[in-house]
Amino acid sequence: MSAQEKIAIVTGAGSGIGKATVLGLLKEKYSVVLAGRRSEVLMQTLAEAGTYGSQALAVPTDVSDAASVRDLFEKTKKTFGRLDLLFNNAGTGAAPIPLEDLPVKEWRRVIDVNLTGAFLCTQAAFRLMKEQTPRGGRIINNGSISAHAPRPNSAPYTASKHAITGLTKSTALEGRKYDIACGQIDIGNAQTEMTVRMREGATGRQRLVHDRNGHEDAPGWPGVRRLICEWLTSVAPLGAPAAITDSGPSLRNTAPQYRSPTGEERW
Ligand SMILES: NC(=O)c1ccc[n+]([C@@H]2O[C@H](COP(=O)([O-])OP(=O)(O)OC[C@H]3O[C@@H](n4cnc5c(N)ncnc54)[C@H](OP(=O)(O)O)[C@@H]3O)[C@@H](O)[C@H]2O)c1
Repeated sequence: MSAQEKIAIVTGAGSGIGKATVLGLLKEKYSVVLAGRRSEVLMQTLAEAGTYGSQALAVPTDVSDAASVRDLFEKTKKTFGRLDLLFNNAGTGAAPIPLEDLPVKEWRRVIDVNLTGAFLCTQAAFRLMKEQTPRGGRIINNGSISAHAPRPNSAPYTASKHAITGLTKSTALEGRKYDIACGQIDIGNAQTEMTVRMREGATGRQRLVHDRNGHEDAPGWPGVRRLICEWLTSVAPLGAPAAITDSGPSLRNTAPQYRSPTGEERW
């Protein structure tokens, strides 16, 4: 499986999981567009990529803003001509306060980034992927264990991550006719900027990458999603748990294989 000439967009690319994914993709010879609001951390990621950074473009982006997302995809198309992979990773949480005290502004901020941001990027990716030759691509949404079960005082985050599962399923279904596949990874406790406060819950050194349903993965899927899961284990320092649930196979009946017009599997 060669990643030659594959183009990826990673949102939330300047820190944590997004950064680890960018560095992994660049080493696999992807060209990567890094999106996030803070240009300095995007540039820092590029600096850490060293010579691999020459295959990358940093585009400061607010995924909750439609015009900003439009600009991201226009720059991607202008620079690289196509898009093969979108990793909808940008995310945020609200302060862990009781649901009844949460200002509605905070609710909206989390939903705007975690859900509307992923939707806007998915919409823009569809427009590009369905027109390009060869047609199609892959979208991977970063869900969470919170897509399955809540933590206390995390209603907006939990609601947004449950909703991401709906977006993933809709995207997989709607993308079929354009050879666009979509899956989701649901991660628990990788130590990043977002989870620096969440030390409790650590039960020792535990690094899991597993198929939640015990299924064989769909043809074409293992490459990128499994690689991301492997890179994610490098995010968690020793002693921190990184339980990674790869929930994509549950969607395998709706996800098409991604094949080029000549029929070979591209992933
Ligand atoms: N770490 C975990 O254990 C864990 C578990 C489950 C799920 N996740 C998910 O993993 C994803 C990444 O989180 P992380 O743990 O790596 O935390 P992180 O280091 O805080 O990363 C979040 C990234 O999202 C970006 N972001 C936030 N708002 C944005 C916006 N409006 N537009 C564009 N980018 C935005 C941030 O960059 P800027 O501030 O520069 O915009 C940041 O780079 C999130 O979706 C999170 O829900 C993480």
